Amino acid sequence: MSSWTQFISPYAAGTEPLQTLFQQDSKRATSWGFALEGLYVDLAKQQIDAPMLAACEKYLERIQLGRAIQDLLGGEIVNHSEQRAAWHSILRLQALADSPAQFAEVHSTRERMLELVEEIRAGGKSLGFDGITDVVNIGIGGSDLGPRLATRALGQFQQNSPRVHFVANVDGQAMAAVLPTLPANSTIFLIVSKSFGTQETRMNAELARHWLAENNISEDQIDRRFFAITTNTSAAAKFGVPFAHILPMWDFVGGRFSVWGPVGFVLAIAIGAQHFREFLRGAASMDQHFAATPFAKNLPVLLGLVGCLNRNAFAYASHAIVAYDERLSLLPNYLQQLEMESNGKAFQQDGNPADQTAPVLWGGVGTDVQHAFFQAIHQGTQVVPVDFIGVIKPAHSHVQNHDALLANMLAQSAALLRGKSAAEIAVDLGHQETGVESNRILAAQKTFPGNRPSTTILLDSLTPYALGQLLALYEHKVFAQSRIWNINAFDQWGVELGKLIAADLLPAFRDDRIPKDTDSSTNALLNRIRAAR
Ligand code: F6P
Repeated sequence: MSSWTQFISPYAAGTEPLQTLFQQDSKRATSWGFALEGLYVDLAKQQIDAPMLAACEKYLERIQLGRAIQDLLGGEIVNHSEQRAAWHSILRLQALADSPAQFAEVHSTRERMLELVEEIRAGGKSLGFDGITDVVNIGIGGSDLGPRLATRALGQFQQNSPRVHFVANVDGQAMAAVLPTLPANSTIFLIVSKSFGTQETRMNAELARHWLAENNISEDQIDRRFFAITTNTSAAAKFGVPFAHILPMWDFVGGRFSVWGPVGFVLAIAIGAQHFREFLRGAASMDQHFAATPFAKNLPVLLGLVGCLNRNAFAYASHAIVAYDERLSLLPNYLQQLEMESNGKAFQQDGNPADQTAPVLWGGVGTDVQHAFFQAIHQGTQVVPVDFIGVIKPAHSHVQNHDALLANMLAQSAALLRGKSAAEIAVDLGHQETGVESNRILAAQKTFPGNRPSTTILLDSLTPYALGQLLALYEHKVFAQSRIWNINAFDQWGVELGKLIAADLLPAFRDDRIPKDTDSSTNALLNRIRAAR
């Protein structure tokens, strides 16, 4: 057991159920509601009280979280297994004055990217194109999820831009769905890959090249249709991307934290340079808050703490993200990588076993999911803490629908807290005689346990600035949790083994050679696929 779990267990054992916490403290809503500009986080429905927070603060001081935050934001090496910084915050710095030396290159790359953005949005004439109508982002994981989420979330800011498309999966269906919709002579492709070695992205980039050739784009014109965003600029050049079309990434920015830099190229093309700058400004405001706010009011720290309490003190194994806004429908997908690739680790930084780390993160959009998995959230045997995320001002004029949407969101968290007892059910049923067997059975089915935790996050409106704040909030939450669990949030060795085995197996689809060491089940599946092709 890690020292965090040992430390927190006695406090957790003494914590009252949620309903009692509300009864004991009439000011609970205000004490546990935190505003930062247009962002509001309500933690009142989480099982934490002032003594527990005070104890947690002591623990955070003991592990020197404040120092760790300064190291993270100051570009120190925090990813020890790869000897790298995790300096995504440098991508959101604004002014050159007083900035670290490394910002000069980040800044000049941003300016070059945003110039390209405006040229592409204007049709690309200055770049030698006869008009650009469509931009396809080819990338996967961090080279896809962030830009894809943000582009969808900020759709209302997408005016006078080319159409943008995303292809991630190696499944040919992904390309097959997009390519036929594109006009070959006015489409460009952005190949986004930190490594420029990812199988899915390489294969889809090759497909794009063949498609251009098949559509009568002359060989000398094809290379110009590609832009690359990568640390591996020589591999991009070898693929044929013109030097002027390559935007660098840096080792000190991890893939899942990279939307703020050149990986955000497609987003910037969609929403324009000014809105992209606003997106960065929002995230930078969260960086400042994270760096300068005492733990007891620090939003990422509090969100991280509550998550660790739910995981380690109360043993809740999963965590649901439910956005009550269609524009945020990709938030659960994005957060799955951010949280589970970062903190899905079983060993501490010193090589000792870790305690329970990242919960299984999943979710969807409200109200849809109320008609799917909310039955289990309310009455299932597992307690699943939920993050409800809502936007107060909609981007449409259907006010009544929006009121209904937000009423549903509030109702779900209220119901999770309140529950409904067998006695209340009996009253509903009009049967006061609770001893009657049929009533007992029915009441049992209809009872809600209540005391189920949730966090509600409200955005005044879904602007680029607010989205920047929201995503940086979760990024820093993940970092705070990694420090509590003493794990490295910035490597991802767990994705490597499957990639290696896939590379070993691929030739077996073309010949009879099956790699030795292949287990009998995999072998049989492979043979069945080969026989049926
Ligand atoms: O899933 C593993 C991973 O390395 C992610 O961390 C990364 O975001 C994704 O693959 C894509 O990698 P790249 O940008 O190098 O193509």
